[in-house]
This record gives sequence, structure tokens and C-alpha cells, in this order.
Amino acid sequence: MLVLGIETSCDETGVALYDTGRGLLGHALHSQVAMHADYGGVVPELASRDHIRRVLPLTREILAKAGCTLPDLDAIAYTEGPGLAGALLVGASIAHGLGYALGKPVLGVHHLEGHLLSPLLSHPAPDFPFVALLVSGGHSQLMQVGGVGDYQLLGESHDDAAGEAFDKTAKLLGLNYPGGPALARLADSGKPGRFKLPRPMLTQLAKTGDLNFSFSGLKTAVLTLVNQQPADDKTRADIAAEFQAAIVDVLVAKALAAMEQTGLSRLIVAGGVGANRLLRERLTASARSQGYRVFYPELEFCTDNGAMIALAGALRLEHSSLITHHSSLKRSFTVRPRWDLASIETPTPA
Ligand code: KG4
Ligand code: ZN
Repeated sequence: MLVLGIETSCDETGVALYDTGRGLLGHALHSQVAMHADYGGVVPELASRDHIRRVLPLTREILAKAGCTLPDLDAIAYTEGPGLAGALLVGASIAHGLGYALGKPVLGVHHLEGHLLSPLLSHPAPDFPFVALLVSGGHSQLMQVGGVGDYQLLGESHDDAAGEAFDKTAKLLGLNYPGGPALARLADSGKPGRFKLPRPMLTQLAKTGDLNFSFSGLKTAVLTLVNQQPADDKTRADIAAEFQAAIVDVLVAKALAAMEQTGLSRLIVAGGVGANRLLRERLTASARSQGYRVFYPELEFCTDNGAMIALAGALRLEHSSLITHHSSLKRSFTVRPRWDLASIETPTPA
């Protein structure tokens, strides 16, 4: 089954072709980072307009490279939510337009399910069940994953997501959007420990096994430091290093506690913050010492991309009766800018 995946939830246009027999046949990504940089963050209206310009040319490009044509597609999957409403509508309309024209089924995919399943694009891919640490710009969650559509929330952030904390702290340190990777680079030239930042929610973990996160206080603590300290390069780098160490300490401790609480042996890390080098090094070392295996998506599939949407769509279709029951002639569709992953349906076998 050949599935076209379309991702337009935020500031990246991603398209991909995933075949259930042959794997990923092609993918392409256009990042809007340069376009939004002047504004210090994503401008939703500009994002939507740019997605309109990019989806079809990128789709033509990957089809041509894979030696396929539109009629070869068996289904089209797109990100239905969560994300920016206008940006999501672009992917949804194009997917449904294509599906209608081709007479092929169209499937809305949960963006976080895409992230969650993205390590399955790598070799070796993890078997189910596993614990997933999902750390993106909008979400920080620990999930127990039993199979496609079987997701149990173990803990999540009460306030800022890990990526959001990276982005906001980067701004406080005078770094440009997108802040996460820039802060990580600055942290590499600094030393953690010169300043002391809190490790939020670790006391609760020790007391009650609480797997939730809270990162907004960390950002406020950085603001206090920035206001007290001289703004020289070394100080900024040392603050960045301590901030990164604090977030990584919390994520590693909670992920390992989730492994212990669930009794599972495989951990996967997904979402943009999963690209963070220190997080990868620390998680891999700590997990190994406890006898757990950690799986990461390739770096290019950590941040938003079309491959994870094509994969999630294909796996859902493969595991369900949807492909036979879904009417490609359905003319109405919706997007879900806010959408709880734990609420999505488990596909019912055909
Ligand atoms: O998964 P993603 O591409 O988009 C969302 O679904 O949110 O994640 C983007 C987030 C941003 O907050 C970005 O700053 C963060 O991931 N990020 C990083 C790194 N690369 C991306 N944070 C820390 N270190 C990185 N190397
Ligand atoms: Zn994402």
C-alpha cells in the first residue's frame, strides 16, 4: 500500500511516500525558518500561505524521484491536528482534493502519533510495547505505547513544553528564532554548575513517582539570572549550559522512572528536542546502565516532517478496516488545532 503523507501543522511543509512493503520511498521538506526569522517566531498567516505554495511542487518532486505517479497512490494521509488552524487547513484541503480527484481514501493523522511512531522509520526499529518520551515545541509527554493507536499517557507538562522552554529561554539570552538548536550550540561553549538552576518536579518524582513536568519556572529563574548578571558571552554560555543540563536531568530522570514503573525495556525518544545531543548522550548512557534500549528517529525525522505522517497513516490503514470503509467521496473535513492524543481511536482490525 502506497501512502502520500502531508505535514503542514506549523512552519515546515513535509511530504513523503511510504509503502507498507518497501518502506520510505521518498520525502521532501521545506522549512519556513528563514521567512519567520525576521518576526522572531512563526507568523500563522505567512505559514499557511507558504504551505499553499509548497505542497504540490514538493509532492511532484518526490513522486518523480520515486518513479511513481499520482494514480499509483493507494491513500493520502495528512496532519489533522494539533497545530495552527490555517496551516492545518492547507494540508487537509489538498489531501482531500487529491483524494476526491483520484478516488482514493484520505486519512487525518494526529501529529503526535506521527512523532511517536517516527523511530519505526529507523533500522533497527523498536518492537511494541515501548515507552515514548515525546518532547517537541508544543508537547512534553511520557506515553506507554502498546501498538498502533494504543497510547496511555504516563505524564505531561503542566505548563511549557520542553521545546517551548528552550525557545523562550533562548530569547532571554538574545538568541534568534528558532531558539532550541541555537541555545544548544551556545550551551556547548559554556559550563553547567557556575550558576544553579532548579530541576523542576524531581522532588515529586522521588516522593510519589509523579511523571509530570513543569518547565515555566526554569525560564523565570533564567530571567532572574539574566537580569542579575553581566551580559558577556561567557556568562550567557554558562547560563545556557546550566539550563540545558537542568532540562536534560529532568527528562532523563522521568524517562527512566517511566521505564521502571511500566516494567518495559524499550524507550523511544521523539519530537524536536529529541535532536538535542546532550539529551541523547545522557539518555543512552543512563538507559544502558539499567539494561534498557533507547531508539531515536534519524535527526531529520526528529523535527516535523512528512515521513512520520505517511508512516502513521500507512500503519493505521494497515491495521484497520478504514481503507475499505472510508469513503473517498466524502466532501466535508475538519482540522483539530487542539487534539488530545490519548483520545484518538485505536484502529479496528479489518
Ligand atoms: O517536533 P518539532 O519539530 O515541532 C513541534 O511539533 O513542536 O519540535 C520543535 C522544537 C522547538 O521548540 C525547537 O526549539 C526544539 O524542538 N529543538 C531543539 C533542538 N532542535 C529542535 N531543542 C533543543 N535542542 C535541539 N538540538
Ligand atoms: Zn512536531
